Amino acid sequence: MIAGRKNSLKKIVALTAFDYSFSRLIDTTDIDIILVGDSLAMVALGHSTTLPVTIEEMIMHTCAVSRGCQNALLVADMPFMSYQVSNEQAITNAGRFIQEAGAQAVKIEGGISMAKRVQALTKVDIPVMGHIGITPQSINRLGKYQVQGKTFTDARKIKQDALALQDAGVFSIVLEGIYDELAAEITQDLKVPTIGIGAGVKCDGQILVLHDLLGLGMDPSPKFVKKYTNLANETKKAVNNYIQEVRNETFPDAEHSYSLKIKKLMSNTKDA
Ligand code: KIV
Repeated sequence: MIAGRKNSLKKIVALTAFDYSFSRLIDTTDIDIILVGDSLAMVALGHSTTLPVTIEEMIMHTCAVSRGCQNALLVADMPFMSYQVSNEQAITNAGRFIQEAGAQAVKIEGGISMAKRVQALTKVDIPVMGHIGITPQSINRLGKYQVQGKTFTDARKIKQDALALQDAGVFSIVLEGIYDELAAEITQDLKVPTIGIGAGVKCDGQILVLHDLLGLGMDPSPKFVKKYTNLANETKKAVNNYIQEVRNETFPDAEHSYSLKIKKLMSNTKDA
């Protein structure tokens, strides 16, 4: 239970996944949460924001991730305009993530303004993860992806958002791109776990976009991204080796070919 991990010595660790292969792979680790984030719009689909990804695309990717996820909690991000219109719309679409795609919870962006949605969803037994601070679906209001809570008023608003989401019934809250001190204070004052991304070490857990961690994300990456490896370089190296070996005919070699070990097969006219 993620909610029970508040103040746990064992921090909550979460990652995104967008397909079956990566889901299956990271689910064999001790990862707690796999999020099918709407960041897939940018990372996997090549859009410049998260706004264009549709509910159908998110459902398709959640189905794929779900097939590979046996152990971690599977959370699906509700895309832009799939929950903002009304409680009814939010319930119908969140229900699809649970019923059709195999998610166990959904994540929605927004604070006080989304408290009613959270109440409506939890009332029909759909667990909700909140998301405040930098909320990428608000890019047209925010102007750019930048750290939030710079002024006292802004910081207080973010804390009020967190408290409102907690009162509405979320089981955890993602804090994205806020000052460490604010995240620490929110974490201390909430009863539900906070999961940080660019919010310092004091949160109850951390989340990263898998492609960023693997060095497959976009450049330049945000300050809070740590590349634990550089698979972009490894991938390019492997592809260049393949190209070279195909062109100089060292691939496929005997080890990677099917051979009947019969010389001059084509000149042999009779069957053995
Ligand atoms: O879409 C996403 O990947 C997210 C996480 C980074 C929190 O919302």
